[in-house]
Amino acid sequence: MRVDIISIFPDYFGPLELSLIGKARQTGRLDVAVHDLRTWTSDVHRTVDDTPYGGGPGMVMRPEPWGQALDAVGPGTLVVPSPVGKPFTQADAHELASLDRLIFACGRYEGIDQRVIDDAADRMPVREVSLGDYVLFGGEVAVIVIMEAIVRLLPGVLGNADSLTEESHAAGLLEAPVYTKPASWRSRDVPEILRSGDHGRIARWRRDQSLLRTASRRPDMMSVYPVDDLDKADRKTLTEGGFQITPPSVAK
Ligand code: ADE
Repeated sequence: MRVDIISIFPDYFGPLELSLIGKARQTGRLDVAVHDLRTWTSDVHRTVDDTPYGGGPGMVMRPEPWGQALDAVGPGTLVVPSPVGKPFTQADAHELASLDRLIFACGRYEGIDQRVIDDAADRMPVREVSLGDYVLFGGEVAVIVIMEAIVRLLPGVLGNADSLTEESHAAGLLEAPVYTKPASWRSRDVPEILRSGDHGRIARWRRDQSLLRTASRRPDMMSVYPVDDLDKADRKTLTEGGFQITPPSVAK
């Protein structure tokens, strides 16, 4: 996979040299190029922003440098992190991980002139994505987050591929709590069942924990969980946990 990142702060992307992303780059599984947007400015001050048409606070990123930058590095699937984007999900991470060429455009200030996005969309797929309902200074940190979510899905990057099928969000539920040695720490014991060696009971316990965690912490996820995927034991767990099963949602 080839990834081009365009930003006015290329130094933000040092972390992409570390850990498993760094390793994926070293082994050639991933090719990342970070570009300074100011490369495509033509004035002495290397200006990338200007005041918004229609008035209002802050500055907007000018279209010309962005247009030239995207002409130079494109085409590819353009990902623009933005608080006005569609919520980025694990399903998006899977879709993006299946592509060969990604381009990330990091906006700053009040955002990028909309014509940049509209013009790019005539030539390449464009996705505006949001990490959540809060506002960051710019898209740089969001790109690092999205890259982590994508790169760990690339074949061969994670040592144990089972981690991907069993993790939170893979099956529409949050994962159960996890424990390691020692069995007792600060008078807190690892649940006995996990030390029992009884794989059937352990699987049931984990499933129960997943259901209860998801129903209490993420009713939004539980409300879209297919009711047909809840077996008799699942229903019992949820009902005894105080959750109502009201197709297709589980309410408290
Ligand atoms: N840029 C600024 N805020 C953002 C957010 N919440 N998600 C993605 N990109 C952003």
